Amino acid sequence: MVFKTIIKSGVVMLTNRKEIVISIISFLGVLIIVFAVFGFNNKNRSRVYINSEGETIAVGQCATCHTTATPGIVNQWADGKMVTEGVTCIDCHNADKLKQYGTSEDIEKNLISHNGYEIINKPTPANCNECHNKQVTEFTRSGHAGKSWLSVVGSDAFTETQLKMIKLHHPEKFKKGDFVKHNGLAAVEASQIEGDFAIRLSCKRCHGIGAPNPDMSIGNCSDCHLRHNFSIAQAREPKTCGQCHIGPDHPQIEIWEESSHGVVFRNRADKYNLDKSNKDMRVQDQDAPTCATCHMAGFKGSGFTHDVNSRSAWHLHSSFSTARPGWKIARASMENTCLSCHDEEFVKRHFYNCDKSVQDVNVKNNKGKFWANVLMDTGNRTKAAFDEEIDFVIFDLWHHWGRTAKFGTFMLGADYVQWHGNYELQRDYSHLMDFTKEKIGKEKFIDLKDILDNNKAELLSKYFSGDQLKKYQQILTEIYDYDKIYNDTPLGKDYLEVNVDKNHLEKKQL
Ligand code: HEC
Ligand code: HEC
Ligand code: HEC
Ligand code: HEC
Ligand code: HEC
Ligand code: HEC
Ligand code: HEC
Ligand code: HEC
Repeated sequence: MVFKTIIKSGVVMLTNRKEIVISIISFLGVLIIVFAVFGFNNKNRSRVYINSEGETIAVGQCATCHTTATPGIVNQWADGKMVTEGVTCIDCHNADKLKQYGTSEDIEKNLISHNGYEIINKPTPANCNECHNKQVTEFTRSGHAGKSWLSVVGSDAFTETQLKMIKLHHPEKFKKGDFVKHNGLAAVEASQIEGDFAIRLSCKRCHGIGAPNPDMSIGNCSDCHLRHNFSIAQAREPKTCGQCHIGPDHPQIEIWEESSHGVVFRNRADKYNLDKSNKDMRVQDQDAPTCATCHMAGFKGSGFTHDVNSRSAWHLHSSFSTARPGWKIARASMENTCLSCHDEEFVKRHFYNCDKSVQDVNVKNNKGKFWANVLMDTGNRTKAAFDEEIDFVIFDLWHHWGRTAKFGTFMLGADYVQWHGNYELQRDYSHLMDFTKEKIGKEKFIDLKDILDNNKAELLSKYFSGDQLKKYQQILTEIYDYDKIYNDTPLGKDYLEVNVDKNHLEKKQL
């Protein structure tokens, strides 16, 4: 009927003025009807949203209302990749897992009745698990989940089931008797000094990547996959890791920035295809490595993983670095990654130098530990944390410089190996020795220094007995008994002989 009128009005248009007016009116009428139909449709088709590139995307009722409630969220969401796969707000924000695994108290605290839906405002790995089981399993196994929260809060924060999960992946963390006391202490002491609110926004903010959730899952994917874009390219960006891996005690981002890897990456990043799925990503898509390339990506058959610990051979952050369980596989897998861009001898030589430098720093850190203990055992230092100047010297010595010197070698930050590493380490060490000399007297100092420098463990009993004596003997053993201490590590004889032609590598250096 409408169309007939249009045709009719078109035909009569030229012959009859009155008809022309009518035809214009009916044409406008049609336009109004078409507009009304479209407009009406738009209102009803609540699953339509246009993203910033003009693409029409289906997202559902939550998104439609949230276009006004929280437009930023909807915009980021509509630009993400998951949206084109039909994943909607409720797929992540549903409360199913909370209802299934949470206690009634947790449910009451976290379930929100919202415009006819039951939702949660903090989706967890349990929500992602439905579709990303591999990533969730690997992440849960990594130091990012569980262990990172244990490091600051201790074991009390977890349920029995969660503790079993953590224990499974980090058995070494449960050997030390009273774990709560051992590791919970850090945050407790810090909050006594700084106040709870500061701790919430510092330690707990970075370490919250591994905090327990009310639905039994552990940790937080959106610390790296920032909401609501969940872009893989953004997760690959080193600054993402640099949110937490920064500062004097773990300056991985600063080291990377100054490394030749960082320089090449920054210079060529606009040529890279950082949004490619891991399945299709090749070295040609990114020819200089980021944090994620070395610690996570699947180049050269290393196997893409969310377990960031799985390629580390050493516990580098420790004052005295020991090898991790399963370090041989870890090292092989890290080397494999390097081999997608470098040749084998180049890589072996690099790791040989790094491993040797771990040993040197171990010795320096342990010498610092020796004097720190002497001060404590002779009553020249209080037991309280950070109440005197010398506490800071002792802490910085291993916790800052003793770490950065090691991180700098592996990740190519020469400045961190030297000026923010070994140089500062030596400065703090001499400061500590001067302080001790002054406190315990010249005679005794010279005697102890001789024992320390020349491994005269038997003379220690002149000054110490019982547990104290054992402690000093242990420190000396770690400094001098290479074969015993480094046997099952990258510095062990077996490993060096089989894997590295040591003489050849040392000669090549010159
Ligand atoms: C009728 C409109 C409407 C609908 C439908 C709607 N929301 Fe909301 N939502 C809002 C408003 C308004 C707020 C409050 C925003 C503010 O505080 O600035 C909100 C808040 C939220 C919050 C934060 C809640 C809190 O207490 O912290 C979440 C999460 C959320 N919505 C998710 C959803 C999800 C998921 C859906 C779909 C299942 C949905 N919304 C459907 C309007 C809506
Ligand atoms: C892929 C999973 C996922 C989808 C899909 C998703 N969200 Fe979220 N949402 C999250 C995560 C994760 C958080 C933050 C958890 C946290 O606090 O760390 C969050 C937090 C929120 C918050 C509260 C925090 C804030 O920034 O205000 C609101 C509101 C919200 N989402 C709304 C939405 C809306 C609306 C949609 C759909 C357009 C949506 N979400 C889709 C995972 C998702
Ligand atoms: C209902 C299923 C579903 C849920 C729930 C879900 N995802 Fe996804 N996600 C997908 C699909 C499908 C893709 C696209 C295919 C792919 O890349 O694997 C995807 C892709 C991704 C990508 C890659 C994006 C890119 O730029 O290539 C990330 C990152 C991601 N999801 C993170 C998450 C996180 C984090 C959660 C939980 C907070 C989550 N997803 C929840 C289905 C889901
Ligand atoms: C929200 C903060 C945060 C972000 C973002 C983050 N990390 Fe971490 N990461 C941590 C914390 C905290 C630990 C220490 C866990 C512990 O206490 O043992 C850690 C540990 C690690 C470790 C293992 C170190 C060890 O001691 O075993 C590696 C490797 C690592 N992160 C790599 C990465 C990479 C690569 C990225 C980026 C893709 C990244 N991290 C992003 C906080 C973060
Ligand atoms: C800027 C983010 C950030 C802040 C703030 C932070 N940490 Fe960490 N922390 C990390 C990262 C990253 C690591 C992993 C370092 C590495 O392995 O190189 C780490 C490692 C640790 C470890 C060593 C874990 C182990 O396995 O031995 C402990 C303990 C720790 N932090 C406690 C704390 C305490 C206590 C606070 C607050 C006083 C704190 N952290 C503040 C990011 C942070
Ligand atoms: C430490 C930071 C970090 C955390 C935490 C993290 N991711 Fe990722 N994720 C990444 C990086 C980096 C990549 C890309 C790795 C690469 O270069 O191939 C990635 C890739 C992905 C992909 C895309 C895989 C593909 O097809 O290429 C998905 C899906 C994903 N993550 C889901 C998750 C889920 C689910 C969680 C939580 C259990 C999570 N991620 C936690 C950093 C992280
Ligand atoms: C060229 C590869 C490469 C790049 C790029 C790289 N790393 Fe590393 N990273 C290593 C190697 C190798 C080690 C030492 C592994 C071992 O213990 O054998 C290491 C050690 C670490 C550790 C110390 C773990 C411990 O034992 O305490 C952390 C944390 C870390 N890297 C995070 C990062 C972050 C964050 C970035 C980016 C800002 C980054 N890495 C960039 C190769 C790399
Ligand atoms: C995606 C490719 C890629 C990966 C993976 C990679 N590198 Fe590199 N590497 C480069 C590029 C590009 C340079 C810069 C070349 C230059 O300095 O001229 C470089 C430089 C270096 C240098 C400095 C060379 C010099 O002459 O100063 C060392 C050492 C190095 N890489 C070691 C490693 C180690 C060890 C790994 C693995 C843990 C690794 N690289 C992984 C691409 C890569």
